[in-house]
Amino acid sequence: MRTRLYLAGTGNVSLNLIKLLSTENKIFSICGMENSRGQIYSESGMNGKDMDEFLRHPEEYKKNLDVKNLDFDLYVDMRTASRNGERERDDYLNMFKGGKHVVTANKSGLANFFPEIMDGSLNNEKKIYFEATVAGGLPIFSLIRGSFPSFNVTRFRGVVNLTSNFIMKKVRSGMSLNEARDIALREGVAETDMTDDLDGTDSARKAVIISNALFGQKLRLKEFNYDGIDQENIEKDTMLLADISSEGSFHAESKLFRLGMEDPFFSLDPMGMACEISFKERKPVFISENMDGPLETAGAVLSDLINLSRFL
Ligand SMILES: NC(=O)c1ccc[n+]([C@@H]2O[C@H](COP(=O)([O-])OP(=O)(O)OC[C@H]3O[C@@H](n4cnc5c(N)ncnc54)[C@H](OP(=O)(O)O)[C@@H]3O)[C@@H](O)[C@H]2O)c1
Repeated sequence: MRTRLYLAGTGNVSLNLIKLLSTENKIFSICGMENSRGQIYSESGMNGKDMDEFLRHPEEYKKNLDVKNLDFDLYVDMRTASRNGERERDDYLNMFKGGKHVVTANKSGLANFFPEIMDGSLNNEKKIYFEATVAGGLPIFSLIRGSFPSFNVTRFRGVVNLTSNFIMKKVRSGMSLNEARDIALREGVAETDMTDDLDGTDSARKAVIISNALFGQKLRLKEFNYDGIDQENIEKDTMLLADISSEGSFHAESKLFRLGMEDPFFSLDPMGMACEISFKERKPVFISENMDGPLETAGAVLSDLINLSRFL
């Protein structure tokens, strides 16, 4: 019996996931999908032609089915993040109650309502995996779960927002902020609306998720102070990093840090991501990738799906 998926969102990450899933069609079938314009569902699973038709003209498929009443196994959230996370919280709680596990690339629910979502998951004995929410395709939560389950994380320091660091690199090379934004858009690094990237919200959401998932905190985005970037605060030695530590008392920051030129974060490729994770019991681990985009993020979603399907 194949694991049946419902895909919420059919943008860049979702389209890459659909391609990756085509080689995993013995394990998974896609039963439903939706975007902001339409929705399609078939209890027995859709074929490629059904999906292509829907993706070409979603507005021709009415959005009139209540997802919580549909029959499938895993809900995959690849929608645009809502501002306050309430929609995501409600959807995940409904999914758990209806017996479904959740995989999400969308950060907003977890950044705003982590405690409520985890309570819902625990009370209904359903899981939520969220590898793709932080640093796209860089494995963080699955790495800790799979490779360091017996060690205590004491510090996380990393580049978790690609767009802002890409733009800062361009500004440091002499461009204006507006020119750098245009390039980020043209090269597919950023979404059309870069507000969350530039005002620091995206990086802060990730810092909150890491604080909760790796450090056992109950933080919410609204309680978290963070910085974004603007023409004035970009200097030759600054990068936007998340720095979370339980060394001494717990503290979490997402802001521009001054780095030494020899700092490994500084030599990252413009579309690279990296983080350093420190432990109580062993020396730190540094992981990096030269390129992070929707394909890498879709890979993280697929890895969560494969890991979660073992619980069905
Ligand atoms: N791109 C990356 O590399 C990356 C990395 C890490 C995390 N993420 C996160 O992953 C998610 C997807 O990213 P993406 O790059 O694929 O974004 P995207 O290309 O902008 O796609 C977003 C999708 O969400 C759909 N959507 C928006 N509001 C909706 C609603 N109310 N109901 C149903 N669908 C709705 C959109 O519908 P329409 O097609 O109708 O507009 C679109 O299909 C985002 O939350 C993003 O922050 C992305």
